[in-house]
Amino acid sequence: MKIKTVGVLGAGLMGSGIAEVAAKAGYTTIVREVSEELSRKGRARIEASLARAVEKGKLDGAARDAAKARLSETTHLEDLADCDIVIEAIVENLETKNATFAALDRACKAETIFCSNTSSLTITEMSAATTRPDRFAGLHFFNPVPVMKLVEVVRTIATSKETEDTVFEFAKSLGKEPIRANDNSGFVVNRLLVPYLLDAVRALEEGVGTKEDIDRGMELGCGHPMGPLRLLDFVGLDTTYFIAEIMFNEYREKRFAPPPLLKRMVLAGRLGKKSGRGFYDYGAAK
Ligand code: CAA
Ligand code: NAD
Repeated sequence: MKIKTVGVLGAGLMGSGIAEVAAKAGYTTIVREVSEELSRKGRARIEASLARAVEKGKLDGAARDAAKARLSETTHLEDLADCDIVIEAIVENLETKNATFAALDRACKAETIFCSNTSSLTITEMSAATTRPDRFAGLHFFNPVPVMKLVEVVRTIATSKETEDTVFEFAKSLGKEPIRANDNSGFVVNRLLVPYLLDAVRALEEGVGTKEDIDRGMELGCGHPMGPLRLLDFVGLDTTYFIAEIMFNEYREKRFAPPPLLKRMVLAGRLGKKSGRGFYDYGAAK
């Protein structure tokens, strides 16, 4: 199947990045948010990222303008009806995702392929909310989407070979390097990454070191570009908390349990970089 038009659900951290790479790759891209204000914020995030790419000499002005012209926003799910593929990047909550997919299933043409960018839910439990589990796959991007090369392509027992191959080729056409993963909670990367990130919070709770020393230790000792607490701020503490709850419920293993400090920070509104404060302070920028 030839993909020409891409729909993206959600214009948060991930949805805006996914829309940006799709538009840059030449696809007509339409992004759905739940309010005009959030749509505007998503658009501003994309435009800032495109401007940064031009500044860094990675994109020329004409390519930026062409990408912008391919992008549009809506608050109406029905406007995604004719998309060839829709990638969902909304809040990490099964009920919300399933309600959205069920409505999308009613709105879209029969051929539309549905993908979820979920971090921790299984694709099967979402595809079951639609009448098209054969045209449903996982397409898991990494943050920041314009920079990170990896995409995990996930096939369930119901996903057709044709859908899997189309999604795999689509990921390549975005300039990504896809790997295939089975439909287990956390796929490959988060299965390994999430216990490490949660352990860093436990290390901080237990007074193993200061946040700065824990982060510096992993940066300089292991060559990670960011220490785990800064990476948690970058991913979003609310999103990480939802992911940990889902993975803990799935596996019932202590290493996936959300540490109490993580929960308290979310309750206090310290969601990380996106809210201006998490483990670190990001000042007046947000
Ligand atoms: N959007 C677009 N481009 C960005 C960007 C953004 N938000 N942030 C950084 N960049 C680009 C910069 O333009 C720069 O490009 P050049 O090298 O071509 O100049 C490059 O990335 C490096 O940026 P900086 O020099 O400003 O900053 P840095 O060297 O500190 O790198 C980083 C920033 C790429 C984010 C790096 O710190 C990094 O790789 N961090 C780890 C990210 C990571 O682990 N992501 C996975 C999170 S887990 C996940 O996504 C899965 C899940 O389900 C939760
Ligand atoms: P976010 O909080 O930045 O953005 C989510 C956006 O979805 C919000 O703007 C919200 O208004 C919007 N939304 C909620 N319900 C919606 C609906 N019904 N239709 C359209 N938009 C809706 O979250 P995020 O970090 O972008 O995460 C989105 C998804 O991507 C989650 O499933 C998350 O697990 C996954 N993910 C996150 C990361 C990360 O590093 N943050 C990495 C990979 C995957």
